[in-house]
Amino acid sequence: MNDYMNPFDLAAKMWKMATVMIPMQEDELGAQVEFTGDELADIIAFLHDDKQQHKFTKDLLPPSKD
Ligand code: HEM
Repeated sequence: MNDYMNPFDLAAKMWKMATVMIPMQEDELGAQVEFTGDELADIIAFLHDDKQQHKFTKDLLPPSKD
């Protein structure tokens, strides 16, 4: 993400996409992703931090449900 995004706008986008996203999360991960306000703050910080994103590797992904 290049530009700063207002966290309320991100939450509004997630709300708007929820009907598409939740069934996909259930299908891919076995359940809807749930997080606290602090975890959402961490996700938003991660989305704005190119350096941290480059530290993220496939090995850090949770195992698939299959
Ligand atoms: C922490 C987890 C997640 C967050 C914070 C998140 C956030 C978002 C946001 C903000 C959008 C709107 C993007 C835009 O309009 O620019 C979006 C769309 C979407 N997300 Fe997620 N997402 C998460 C997990 C997932 C997972 C696990 C899946 C699928 C397995 C998923 C599937 C989708 C899809 C398919 C869209 C696009 C819907 C459309 O354009 O019709 N998301 N997500």
